[in-house]
Formats: sequence, structure tokens, C-alpha cells
Amino acid sequence: MHDINLHIKRQDIDYSIKFPQDFETLATQLAAQINDRNFLIITDENIFNKSSLFQKSGFFKNNNQVPLDKGGMRGISRNLLILPPGEKYKNWSSIEKILDKAFSQNLDRSSLLIAIGGGVVGDMVGFASHIFMRGIPFIQIPTTLLAMVDSSVGGKTGIDSPFGKNLIGAFHQPEAVFCCTKFLESLPEVEIKNGLCEMIKHGMIHHTPENPHFEELEKLSEKYAPNSHFLEGLVPLISQSIAIKKHIVQQDEQESGTRENLNLGHTFGHAIELLSEFKIPHGQAVAMGILKSIEYAKKYGVLEDESLEKRLQKMLKNFGISTEHNFSDAEIIEAMQHDKKKKRGQIRLILPQRIGQVCPHRLNI
Ligand code: GLY
Repeated sequence: MHDINLHIKRQDIDYSIKFPQDFETLATQLAAQINDRNFLIITDENIFNKSSLFQKSGFFKNNNQVPLDKGGMRGISRNLLILPPGEKYKNWSSIEKILDKAFSQNLDRSSLLIAIGGGVVGDMVGFASHIFMRGIPFIQIPTTLLAMVDSSVGGKTGIDSPFGKNLIGAFHQPEAVFCCTKFLESLPEVEIKNGLCEMIKHGMIHHTPENPHFEELEKLSEKYAPNSHFLEGLVPLISQSIAIKKHIVQQDEQESGTRENLNLGHTFGHAIELLSEFKIPHGQAVAMGILKSIEYAKKYGVLEDESLEKRLQKMLKNFGISTEHNFSDAEIIEAMQHDKKKKRGQIRLILPQRIGQVCPHRLNI
């Protein structure tokens, strides 16, 4: 697949999303990108233990030979920090671990951080690199479908607060993204579905004859099966989905307008995730949120294409993504109170009009 190049007007910088086809190519491209700089790779225990990247590639083996330290912090060897996995560790304590390790490895302003992981690792490493010595570069190596099509691209970085997800953070663009779809081969099905929901969201926001992403996903959904044959069909659509994200980020990097569209399904979705005590996976909650936003689009008279709901439901069913939940509108609205998309007491919703077209809507609560 061709590189996708993204231009950020605010800083007049460009960066590439590259698609190395296997782990050896990834390691070679990464080594070239690092060049002779000092670096720190940050990953989590799941990726470190499960991904053959760290066993197969000479580059990663060489950076993984020093035994774990005995000082209490887990899994630290030279150039590598392994964090505990999961959203519950997306906090200041993990940021401190990254910064401490970076200082202890003598990283300076000419060094770089490298995130190998899903959205949690990528967002935290991006944020740590933003504040380490007032900002150093970082590289994103997304290992989940969700991180490939969404969080690794566009420079949103941060951590969670007890008051809500991603409430602390910064815009800090990576200097490169290496999107190696080999990682998907060992990804649990639920994670593939998480990513598919974000891809569907992209297809609902942006649709052109050159990139009819929603329709392509509809076709792919007819052939859904959790196997390698399906992944082969999915791979070209990943680059389509990233191209949509790039298009939106280039127009509005810091979310003062168009980028808000990427929140389609998320305001409702985050509330549903919260109410389920995070038992409903993010993607599935976003799918439920998109369906809820169609309901509200009908209610406020902005839905132009009545067939949209049925097409979406059919596609989600084909992908085996359940959209059943028992939360009432009142419970969902209450759970939306802490959403950061709230401005001056108003919840900002993104509502679908037709495929490729959404609009913002203020909800007074
Ligand atoms: N994940 C939404 C955004 O990057 O704006």
C-alpha cells in the first residue's frame, strides 16, 4: 500500500503513515527512521508477550536482551518499557514511569519515544513525549485495528481522569506512523470489531466516488468471518479509512470545526461504555451511539436518508456486532454530563444526515 502523507498547517510539518508488510520490513523502516538518535520503546505486557514482533525481528531482539530490573518497576530493559495493559493504567502513574525511564536512559531533546500498542499506549506515549523536556518527537506503531484507523493518526494524546476518559492531554503529532497489518493476525475478534465500528463511522462522515468507504464496508460485511481471508479483504479498506481521517485532520487539526465530526456516536457511546462499567467494548458502544444519533437525527428532523438506519443495522449484524443494551435515554443523558464535548452546559452531538454527511447539533440538558 502507498504511504499516506499528512500535512499539519499549524506547524507546517508533514508526516507519513507507512504500511510495512511484515515485521522485518517494519523493523528495517523503524531503524532507518530512528537513525542514530537515542530512543525508548514503550509497549504493554499483552503485546510484548503475544506479538511475534519481539521474537522474530533482530532489531527488537537486540533491544530486549537486558534482564528485567530488580528495582520494583516491571519489565524494564534497555530501550524498552513494558507497561501493564488496559485503560485503567491510562493515568499519571504510567506517564511518570515513561518519563522516569526516559530520564534514566539519558534521553534528551534530540531523542524520541516509540509507542507500540493500541490506543492506550499510543495516547500515553504521545502525551509523555509532549511534556518530556517540553516536547520531543514520537513514533506511533499501532497494533490494533482501532489504533491503526483512528488514534495513531491526528495527534490527539492524553490520559484519563477520574472525571472521564481522555480529559487530560495535548495535540502532539507523531513524526511517523508505521501501520503494519501483520499485527491484526493475532488480534482477538472483539478488537477487530472495535476497529470496524470506527471505520464505519469514517464511512458515514465522508463518502466520495473515489472513496466510497461505507459501501466498501457493506460489501466486506457480506463476507465476514473471523479468519485470514477476511483480513486480506480488510487491509485495503484500512488505508481508505486512514485517508478519511487524514482529510479531516488536515482541515481542522485542533477540533474547532470539522474534526468534531469524528465524534459521531462517541458522546452517546462513551456514556454507554460508562454505564456498562466498561463491559461493553468501545467499538460496540460507538455503534450503539451511532444508532442513537440516528434516532436523534430523526427526532430533530435532520436525517435526509431514511434507508441509512436499516443499512447500518444490516452491516453491523453481518459483522456480528451486537447493539442491544438496556439503558434508558435519561440514564444515557445523565452519564453524558462529564463529556468534554460539552460546551457552556450544552452537549454537542454529531448527527447523521445521509451517507458521507453529518451535522453538529446542540442538546440542552
Ligand atoms: N478520535 C477522534 C479524533 O481523532 O478526533
